[in-house]
Amino acid sequence: MRRLNDEGAARPDHGFLIRRMTRDDLPAVMALEKASFRNPWSTELLQRELDHEWSTILLVEDPLPEGGVELLGLAIFWIVHDEVHVLNVATSPKHRRRGVARAVMDELLARGRAHRCSLATLEVRRSNEPALNLYRALGFRPVGIRPNYYVDEGEDAIVMVLDF
Ligand SMILES: CC(C)(COP(=O)(O)OP(=O)(O)OC[C@H]1O[C@@H](n2cnc3c(N)ncnc32)[C@H](O)[C@@H]1OP(=O)(O)O)[C@@H](O)C(=O)NCCC(=O)NCCS
Repeated sequence: MRRLNDEGAARPDHGFLIRRMTRDDLPAVMALEKASFRNPWSTELLQRELDHEWSTILLVEDPLPEGGVELLGLAIFWIVHDEVHVLNVATSPKHRRRGVARAVMDELLARGRAHRCSLATLEVRRSNEPALNLYRALGFRPVGIRPNYYVDEGEDAIVMVLDF
């Protein structure tokens, strides 16, 4: 039987639940941000994203045997004109290498294709091997460098693009 997600779409067989974030999810999302990044997004920034109609925050959850769900990961992206721009992807440290980021990226790219986007773009720290591998595995290719893009450590960003 085909499983449906909360928005009525068929859910693939990775077994995770993927749905849009709401304001009620803010505490759990802030905890995930803090566990994942040295400079996590603030509550205010997340709240602002929820108000932007071009912005989507997807959450990946696992159903728990005793009921309820556990937040495993997230992705934040914009759809502007024909471009999907990925702003943030994170998986809870204790659930890494289970395909959580791949699942949410697949969903985000499918949504971009459904909106007739022609490409996806993102920036990633030059030193972030796990993320670089993830994006390469999904077909993204490096197209340029933004020097000192991450002002905290003066680290360069690699700009990556995936053509649909
Ligand atoms: C990058 C990140 C999102 C990956 O999440 P994840 O759920 O563990 O990734 P997945 O299990 O879906 O892995 C998919 C692929 O990505 C690559 N990958 C993921 N983690 C990796 C690691 N630690 N080392 C090397 N490659 C890795 C692999 O190609 C992997 O495929 P494989 O497991 O079949 O080899 C996670 O490490 C994270 O949250 N990091 C901190 C936040 C961050 O840096 N986000 C990215 C900002 S641009």
